[in-house]
Amino acid sequence: MRAGSVGRNISQHGKKISGAEIIAVADTDGKRAADAAKENGIHKYFTDYRDLVREGIDVVDICTPNRIHTGAVISALNAGKHVICEKPLSVSTAEVRKMGELADKKKLKLMTAQHMRWMPSTTAIKKWAETGTLGEVYHARVRAFRRAFIPTAPGFIHGKLSGGGPCMDIGVHALDTCLHVMGFPKPVRVTGVAKTIFAKGYTIPGMWGEWDRKLMDVEDFAAGFVHFDNGATMTVETAWLSHQEESEDFSFRVYGTKAGVQWPTAKYSTVVNSVFADGQLFMPKTDVWPHYEEIKAFYDCVTQNRPTPVPWTETIKVIAILEAIYRSSDKEREVNVKF
Ligand SMILES: NC(=O)c1ccc[n+]([C@@H]2O[C@H](COP(=O)([O-])OP(=O)(O)OC[C@H]3O[C@@H](n4cnc5c(N)ncnc54)[C@H](O)[C@@H]3O)[C@@H](O)[C@H]2O)c1
Repeated sequence: MRAGSVGRNISQHGKKISGAEIIAVADTDGKRAADAAKENGIHKYFTDYRDLVREGIDVVDICTPNRIHTGAVISALNAGKHVICEKPLSVSTAEVRKMGELADKKKLKLMTAQHMRWMPSTTAIKKWAETGTLGEVYHARVRAFRRAFIPTAPGFIHGKLSGGGPCMDIGVHALDTCLHVMGFPKPVRVTGVAKTIFAKGYTIPGMWGEWDRKLMDVEDFAAGFVHFDNGATMTVETAWLSHQEESEDFSFRVYGTKAGVQWPTAKYSTVVNSVFADGQLFMPKTDVWPHYEEIKAFYDCVTQNRPTPVPWTETIKVIAILEAIYRSSDKEREVNVKF
């Protein structure tokens, strides 16, 4: 649907799906739209997505900045198109619900593009957890924490376009993947903080270059403590800038009464007959990118009329937790999760 960095990446994968064809592209930046059309051998390009959704197409893939997602999704659904949309589907639960209910009413597929669900480690852990090997899951620890990788584009650092900082950019990935493994328990209460610690100043240089410090008005660090209705708890930590050894720590641990498991290493720890045992889940080697698997899964759900692999009813729980972290931070107290 547009021609920024993710749109281009997705087009490369989408072209490889046998049976699918990219018909048109839209980007408010006409040159980007034209370049993307040329690169992909597409004949039609637009600067307004409302023109694109009028085309004779089955599916629209939305890869605009976060705050543009909702309008574009609704426009595509109203035109009768199935929609896959980049994460976060929206930065508000009210908007996720609006889109989800519209898709349901129109019997159209709507999927959030959470490609990390198709990483070999995720599929191995999910399969293993589903057989009950973890026992009762009572706690999880989720991290999406970077040392010096703050995005520079306004679409990420300006709240009017992004609706949030690392929570909405990278936290959303690790949190969705962990909840997927946990089977999406219902979040009920959250205590959180969201702060801008480094991004307004010059203490930590950004490895992707300079950013507009005046425009930057979202958090660069956030953390939350989540309670679920089944009694389980979770910590969530996310940052674009921090003093830590690793360039990036995208990970989670899920602790159960029978075993614990780590992502993305897929290592597990348990006790067998009083003997401590650590192991490694098998992850088949593959050259296939999770982004390809994600689009293929959506293609299959549309062509075979199967349920969407990332339904809005799951996404709304992810966004509800992130929204509650912001709300709790503003109110400086624990808040109930609403969605
Ligand atoms: N899944 C992933 O791996 C991944 C990685 C990075 C970003 N993302 C998500 O993808 C989205 C885009 O990120 P990006 O890195 O490609 O950003 P980008 O800034 O490279 O591209 C955004 C594009 O959207 C265009 N645009 C802005 N408003 C528009 C409108 N109203 N209609 C049509 N086009 C419009 C811009 O001109 C630009 O070309 C974000 O939601 C982000 O969270 C996903």
